[in-house]
Amino acid sequence: MGHSCDRPPQPVKDETTMARSKPQKSSGNPAGPASSVTPFKHRHLLGIAQLNQLEIVDLLDRAEAMIPISRQPRKILPTLTGKTQINLFFENSTRTQASFEIAGKRLGALVVNMSVKTSSVAKGETLVDTATTLNAMQPDVIIVRHSAAGAVELLSQKVGCSVVNAGDGAHEHPTQALLDALTIRKHKQRLSGLTVAICGDIANSRVARSNLMLLNAMNVRTRVIAPTTLLPKGIENIAAEVFTDMREGLEGADVVMMLRLQHERASGRMIPSPREYYHFYGLDAEKLAYAKPDALVMHPGPMNRGVEIDPAIADGAQSVINEQVEMGVAVRMAVLDALIADQPQVSA
Ligand code: CP
Repeated sequence: MGHSCDRPPQPVKDETTMARSKPQKSSGNPAGPASSVTPFKHRHLLGIAQLNQLEIVDLLDRAEAMIPISRQPRKILPTLTGKTQINLFFENSTRTQASFEIAGKRLGALVVNMSVKTSSVAKGETLVDTATTLNAMQPDVIIVRHSAAGAVELLSQKVGCSVVNAGDGAHEHPTQALLDALTIRKHKQRLSGLTVAICGDIANSRVARSNLMLLNAMNVRTRVIAPTTLLPKGIENIAAEVFTDMREGLEGADVVMMLRLQHERASGRMIPSPREYYHFYGLDAEKLAYAKPDALVMHPGPMNRGVEIDPAIADGAQSVINEQVEMGVAVRMAVLDALIADQPQVSA
């Protein structure tokens, strides 16, 4: 049974119009996209929690302007020439690491991928010692993924360059939320007033947390759907509606965002079996039919096909999963450009 929290519905603002009404200026590169007038005022991107609505719209607009760069034959906009980017991933990643690397290279940065498995972390070096060592090499930005919530913020306090959170524990994954929002906005031409249902392992999901914060800021009607064992305490304070029945939760949704069961965070112990989970919470054609006929199907990846989503739906006409990956490169180019190219700067 679903229930709503007490938060009154927010007034719907047309953020697309708001963004368009802002004057544009050149990025400084004649071949480059226009960027907004307001310089990005943060040194780091640690979470969606630090961004207001205008800053979110600004990053989405910047990302939208980056999309053509990746679609042209020579995929280069050298606004970060001479800058150094270090990717420091303490947890596995396919999409985030690859797209940050591609984003940095498409902007002309020197990109270094630290392999944590073969680095001195494997010999017992601490996170802080690793950070200060890398900082001594004068990077301009460090992209960090870590299994511990708060680890990226701690690292940001030890270095003199910008830091981007590429996912910290179950806390935040800001660039994932931005790329999800960009994908939705491209299809629906707006965010305000849409109903987005996020379904699955909410309790362990940094993707869900960052998305809920972003979507709330953009006046989206947010729903979460999960068995009670996968709903975190206090979820009703950040999601407008909470459902344990998937069909009720999907009713009339504009967007269905599926989440991976996070076995590495022991989600498997919170469900009777993958088969039963799929029966009640796996997205198949029958359940998807409760959403709007033109509802978008999204998944941040990696997917457990046949556990949280029917492969036919993941690869079907309503799926925008591969487009999310493409938007990931654009969003990460925008974030790097905003943090590095755009800054005279700055306070943390
Ligand atoms: N969505 C996401 O963060 O994927 P990766 O773990 O492959 O980076």
